[in-house]
Amino acid sequence: LIAEVQGAAKLLASKQRICILTGAGISAESGIPTFRDKQTGLWQNYRAEDLATPDAFARDPKLVWSWYQWRRKLVADKTPNPAHDALAQWQQHAESTYQQLTLITQNVDNLHEQAGSTVIHLHGNLWHNRCSQCEAPYQDKSEGASSSKDVTNFDEALLTCQHCAGYIRPDIVWFGETLPLQAWQTAEEAAAHCEVFISIGTSSLVYPAAGLAQLAKQNGAKIIEINPDPTPNTIVNITLAAKAGVVMPALIKQVMTLYS
Ligand code: NAD
Ligand code: APR
Repeated sequence: LIAEVQGAAKLLASKQRICILTGAGISAESGIPTFRDKQTGLWQNYRAEDLATPDAFARDPKLVWSWYQWRRKLVADKTPNPAHDALAQWQQHAESTYQQLTLITQNVDNLHEQAGSTVIHLHGNLWHNRCSQCEAPYQDKSEGASSSKDVTNFDEALLTCQHCAGYIRPDIVWFGETLPLQAWQTAEEAAAHCEVFISIGTSSLVYPAAGLAQLAKQNGAKIIEINPDPTPNTIVNITLAAKAGVVMPALIKQVMTLYS
């Protein structure tokens, strides 16, 4: 693995435009179960088809909210792990160099922001809410994660939007829904123009996010994958088969020393 890390660091330090896509795996070492881990995957406990879909919300909004209340409780006390921290450090360091890093995530746990990163959210944010009809963001009285407590306490009636009669829902992309256009276009643009694309902690099973690596490859980028398990990605140039929290601090440290 040392040789691969050195190879990856050399490649990254010599390039200017770098695109990074993260999935649930980067938060696994923060204690948040991923989607498809055998023993702890979120799917094991819940049939997402019954819950994370617009029809489910139309059918039984309180049930869907209770699931998100459970997920928010699960995530609320989690903190960034060394993988999130290494990425945030690298992003800050890159600002004083000519490197351009674009960080894109499928996660909704806000841990990249908590580590100090700027990040593009493809699948929404667990702590944000919006109207299920007119999509207006629902801002609660208090700021940040605490605001979710008021909105998800559905013992009494469901909250409705201030602008229309729509119910308030989590601002998350559900099965069958399209991704937020602005975020998707920015992500596509970054993937199509980068020189190196790093895929971290994603099974690369879910599209359109999983298509970003292929798009980068088509445009001549090198692909690095950080994942302890194999994925269907056949276009990878360098595989770091290790946990992100273990290998990323070493990788980013090398990039920054090589670079300066
Ligand atoms: P979800 O599981 O319904 O995910 C919505 C996503 O699923 C969309 O991107 C959509 O493109 C995709 N999708 C659409 N049809 C699909 C299909 N047939 N099969 C598989 N995927 C399909 O949403 P959720 O359950 O509300 O979870 C939201 C977020 O939770 C996801 O974006 C996921 O990244 C995330 N997650 C985050 C963490 C973490 O924050 N660390 C951990 C596990 C999962
Ligand atoms: N470090 C790096 N990768 C890890 C770690 C770790 N410590 N632990 C697990 N992984 C890898 C797993 O091997 C797996 O390939 O992270 C990946 C997690 O994959 P998923 O559980 O499928 O999560 P993700 O890829 O984010 O799911 C994609 O599917 O259901 C939708 O919207 C949901 O955004 C999600 C999308």
